[in-house]
Amino acid sequence: MRFQQFFKSASLLALAGLVAASDVIDLTPDTFDEIVKPEALMLVEFFAPWCGHCKALAPHYEEAATTLKERSIKLAKVNCVDEADLCAANEIKGYPTLRVYRHGEFTDYPGPRKADSIIGYMIKQSLPAVNEVTKDTFDEFKKADKVIAVAFLDTVNDEPAAEFNATAEKHRDDWLFGMATDKEVHEAAGVTPPAIVLYRSFDDPVTSYPFPVKSLSTAEFEAWIKELSVPLLDQVSADNYQVYAQSGKPLAYLFLDPTDAKREEYIDALKPVAAKFKGEVNFVWIDAIQFGDHAKALNLQEVKWPSFVIQDLQKQLKFPYDQDQTVTAEAVEEMVQQYLDGKLEPTLKSQPVPESQDESVFNVVGKTFEDVVFDDNKDVFVEFYASWCGHCKRLKPTWDSLGDHYADISDKIVM
Ligand SMILES: *[C@@H]1O[C@H](CO)[C@@H](O)[C@H](O)[C@H]1NC(C)=O
Repeated sequence: MRFQQFFKSASLLALAGLVAASDVIDLTPDTFDEIVKPEALMLVEFFAPWCGHCKALAPHYEEAATTLKERSIKLAKVNCVDEADLCAANEIKGYPTLRVYRHGEFTDYPGPRKADSIIGYMIKQSLPAVNEVTKDTFDEFKKADKVIAVAFLDTVNDEPAAEFNATAEKHRDDWLFGMATDKEVHEAAGVTPPAIVLYRSFDDPVTSYPFPVKSLSTAEFEAWIKELSVPLLDQVSADNYQVYAQSGKPLAYLFLDPTDAKREEYIDALKPVAAKFKGEVNFVWIDAIQFGDHAKALNLQEVKWPSFVIQDLQKQLKFPYDQDQTVTAEAVEEMVQQYLDGKLEPTLKSQPVPESQDESVFNVVGKTFEDVVFDDNKDVFVEFYASWCGHCKRLKPTWDSLGDHYADISDKIVM
C-alpha cells in the first residue's frame, strides 16, 4: 500500500514535471500559421511517436528549447500521427524532419540532432547575416572566407541594402556578407558607393558587380555570386561536390594522380578551356587514386591518368574521353564543344557485343539493350540475372525451352 502510494505520487510528480518543464510548443493546424508566421526565426520538428530517431532527439530538443528560450528563439513540434493532414500539407516525407522557419519560409536544419549543435546553429542564425565592416576590420574581413560579398554604401538604408540583406539572410550558410558605410573603408577599397564587390580566395580575387548597383534585385545578385563562387578549375572532393551538384551544370572531370610531377601542368593547360566554357560546363580535377571507384562509375575502364570525362548531372549520362588517346587541351576543347552541340554519344557500361547469337534466347548486353529491347516491331521478354545466382541457374532450362518454343512459332518474340 505504501509502496503503491509512493509510486503513484512519484509518477504523478514526474508526469507533472515533464509537462510543465517542456519549452517545446505543440503545433496544430489551428495554431501553425498563427505561431510560425510572425517569428523571425524558429525551429519546427515534424515527428511520429513511434519513430526511434525522434525519441532519441526528444531530450536534446527539450534542452535546446530551454536554452534558446533565453534568446527568444522558439522551438515547436508537430505530431504527424495526430496531425497527418498538416504534415501532408507540408510535404513531410521522413521523421524527424527539422525545419528552420523565418517568417513562415523554411530551410532544412542541416546539422547533427544534438542539443549543442541545434543551439549553436540557431544562435548563429539569429546573429545578423550582414556584418558591419569598419576600417579596422576590413583587411581581415575580406580574407575571412572563400567568397565574401561587401556592399559599400553611404548609409545602411541606401539602395540596394534591402536586397543585399535579403540575399545575405538566405545564403548566410553559403557565403560571408559585409556592409561598409565608412568613407575610409570606401577609399581603402578604392570604390565609389554604391558598389558591391566580391572578394575570393581563388581565381580573380576582386570582382565588382558590373551592372547598375542601385537597381540590383535579389535574384540577379544571387545568380552573380553563384556563378563566381564556382572556381574555374578547382579540385573536387566530398567537401565541395555539393556546389557542383547544385549548379546542375555538366561536370567535366580531369582525373589525375595527385603525386604526378606534371599535375599542375595538366591543370594549367586546361584552365583556358574551362574559361571558354564557363557558365555552360563546370571543370574540376579529381584525385584518381582516392576516387578510383568514381572513375569506374563514370565508365573509365583503365587505370590510366590523366583521363577526362564529362558527366551530365541532369540526365545522368557519362561521356568518357577515349583512354587510348592522350588528353590534350585541344582534344578536350573539341570534345566539350561536340558535347554542347549534342553530337557526342554517352557510353553505357557494357560487355562486348556477342559475335554471334546461336541460341534462341538472345543475349543482350549494355550496348545492344536499346536496339533489341525497345524494338517496336517485337515483343521482348527479358530476364535480368546474375551469373552467381542459384535461382537464375535453376530458371535457365525453363527459360531456354521457352525461348525454343517461341523461336519456332514467331519471329516477333525475342527473349
Ligand atoms: C541591412 O543590414 C544592416 C546590417 O545588419 C543593417 O544595419 C541595415 O539596417 C539593413 N538595412 C536594410 C534596409 O534592411
